[in-house]
Amino acid sequence: MKKINEKELVREARKAMERSYSPYSGFSVGAALIDTEGRIYHGANIENASFTPTCCAERVAIFKAVSEGVKDFSAIAIVGSGGNFTAPCGVCRQVMREFCSDDFEIYLADKNDNIKKYTLAELFPESFGPDDL
Ligand code: THU
Repeated sequence: MKKINEKELVREARKAMERSYSPYSGFSVGAALIDTEGRIYHGANIENASFTPTCCAERVAIFKAVSEGVKDFSAIAIVGSGGNFTAPCGVCRQVMREFCSDDFEIYLADKNDNIKKYTLAELFPESFGPDDL
C-alpha cells in the first residue's frame, strides 16, 4: 500500500474544489479520496436549482470511485471555501460507513493548511452499517 501524505492529499482536495458547482450557497467544497493502491479520486460539491439533489464533494468522490469498481479506501481530505475546517455532513459519514473501515482517515484542512486528523470511528461512532443487517 502506498504511504499517504496528508499534505499532498489536501493539495489534491484544493484542486478538486476549483470544480465546485455551487451557485446557490456560494460555498465550494473539495475532496480527495485515496484508495489502498494510492489512486486518487477528486470530488467537488454539485448543487441544483431544486436544492435537494445537491451532492457533497465527499460523496461525489466516493461514488466516482465505486462506479469505477473501487471499494477499498485509505483516506479522504476535505477543504471548504469558508476557510475554516469543513467536516463531512451526516449523510456523507453514512456513505463512508458503507465502504470504509473504522480506521479510514479523514483529514480536514483550514485555509492556513492546519490539518485535523480523525478516523471514521471517531467521527461516526455507534453507527449502523452493512454488517448490522
Ligand atoms: N457540502 C459539502 O460538499 N460537503 C460537506 O461536508 C458539507 C457541505 C456542500 C453542500 C452544499 O453544496 C454546500 O456545501 C453548502 O452546504
